[in-house]
Amino acid sequence: MTYNNITCQIDTQVAIITINRPSKLNALNSETISELHVAISSLQNNTSVKAIIITGSGPKAFVAGADISEFADFNYEQAKRLSHQGQSKLFSFIEQCSKPVIAAVNGFALGGGLELAMSCHFRVASNNARLGLPEVSLGVIPGYGGTQRLTHLVGKGKAMEMILTASMVTAEEGLEWGLLNYVVEPDNLLPFVESLCQKIIANSPKAIGFAIQAINACNDHDKDGYELEIENFAKCFETDDFKEGTSAFLEKRKANFKGN
Ligand code: COA
Repeated sequence: MTYNNITCQIDTQVAIITINRPSKLNALNSETISELHVAISSLQNNTSVKAIIITGSGPKAFVAGADISEFADFNYEQAKRLSHQGQSKLFSFIEQCSKPVIAAVNGFALGGGLELAMSCHFRVASNNARLGLPEVSLGVIPGYGGTQRLTHLVGKGKAMEMILTASMVTAEEGLEWGLLNYVVEPDNLLPFVESLCQKIIANSPKAIGFAIQAINACNDHDKDGYELEIENFAKCFETDDFKEGTSAFLEKRKANFKGN
């Protein structure tokens, strides 16, 4: 598959999607959002892929936001469609992906860029990264889930402060606030995230998918997370992965999971 705004490469069961509009600091226009949707759907169905990394091209930006030039003259209806379609096509779609999706934040993650990183299952950043939701400085608010996911990640007070001041925080602050899991040197960003992925994919893909679903239920008012955990726990017992994992433990050997 060829794309205009992203690249996708697969190596040892890990896919790296790179948003590739460096001259626009990888700003998310609608074509990029559609391409990300197509790429992630196809990776989700690709049994040889077990984890997905999303990063930005160039040394400066992960994603500097939604593409402002695309929506500057939108009206109420157009804005509603933009936000609604973006959320379902990409941001919630990533969050609900059954394979782990990790953001490797290599620079500015602003507006839609931070929202994209927050929709991933967790985030690692290079120490030059700057994170923020500056939308109110443009007379708008975050529209790709930022008010919700930031609040879940850092708490209401810090989310209020970040959104209302429109200020950026450093990677170190992001780490301290719980927005980021790790901060590393820029050259080490992808190797570090790839090594985390290798640790993850040694485990049962089926169990990983069920765990992601159960953890996500924590933020979903329509679901009882404890009930979903019971259900998914029980479903594991019907999988070949569970048979393989428990047999391998009892036989004192390394598990070889096939499930996806
Ligand atoms: N949408 C569209 N284009 C964007 C963009 C965005 N969100 N962010 C950056 N760009 C473009 C700039 O317009 C510029 O394009 P040009 O060279 O054709 O004029 C190019 O990317 C480089 O950006 P520039 O502003 O010149 O880089 P900088 O180093 O001076 O500043 C930022 C970097 C990130 C501080 C600045 O680009 C910025 O504030 N971007 C917008 C961030 C934002 O508000 N995001 C939320 C959107 S809802």
